[in-house]
Amino acid sequence: MATDEAEQHARELAAAAIAAGDPTSWFERLYAEAEAGTAVVPWDRRAASTLIARWLDEQQVTGHGKSAVVVGTGLGDDAELIASLGFDTVAFDISPTAIAAASRRHPGSAVRYQAADVISPPAAWLHGFDLVVDGLALQSMPDPPRAQALAAIGRLVAPGGRLLVTARAREHGEPVTGPPYALTRDEIDAIAGPGLRITSLEELRDPPGMTPGRRWRAVYQREQ
Ligand SMILES: C[S@@+](CC[C@H](N)C(=O)[O-])C[C@H]1O[C@@H](n2cnc3c(N)ncnc32)[C@H](O)[C@@H]1O
Repeated sequence: MATDEAEQHARELAAAAIAAGDPTSWFERLYAEAEAGTAVVPWDRRAASTLIARWLDEQQVTGHGKSAVVVGTGLGDDAELIASLGFDTVAFDISPTAIAAASRRHPGSAVRYQAADVISPPAAWLHGFDLVVDGLALQSMPDPPRAQALAAIGRLVAPGGRLLVTARAREHGEPVTGPPYALTRDEIDAIAGPGLRITSLEELRDPPGMTPGRRWRAVYQREQ
């Protein structure tokens, strides 16, 4: 299946899930179809995200003695990169089939892969991680439930910890035909909240090595 076809199929699955009133059920369906060999996961790069990898490199991030969580880990390539920097890493996804596939793709991994929903994570994770990375989960969700996820993701950040969000960008009022559902500046702002502020926001146009388009790269920090 070509990339265009794979993306079109993902959009059809998302539209059907929204129409059925279960807007995130299409992720599990898509991963299950991929397991069965009847679909392709369109975002499976078999490599870590370019924007996340560049940020880790630019910021010279190291993780020894620190914890990290990857939200919407998919097949685990970002999580493996983060664990390789020394972070004690948890990576979760709403799709149990994705989690099983990530564990198989990275045998012997130090990452703890787990099925969970960012909107209702285990209580032990709240304010629990020095580094929280959005693995394109926010831009993949229709609204609802995206607004709930925007409000929830910051709750994973420990005091003094950081949250990195990368997502496709759109202007307020610009129509959104996803997935992916590009985020507006208002949505980027909505991720911040009491005790969690934006410390850096870049709007990147046609970043090299990526499909053309505008992207946000936002960093948030929780106060101590
Ligand atoms: C666009 S994919 C990106 C996957 C992976 N991070 C990557 O870059 O290849 C978004 C991922 O978010 C997951 N996801 C969607 N909604 C979620 C939720 N509410 N909680 C946790 N994961 C979710 C999906 O199952 C999917 O694997």
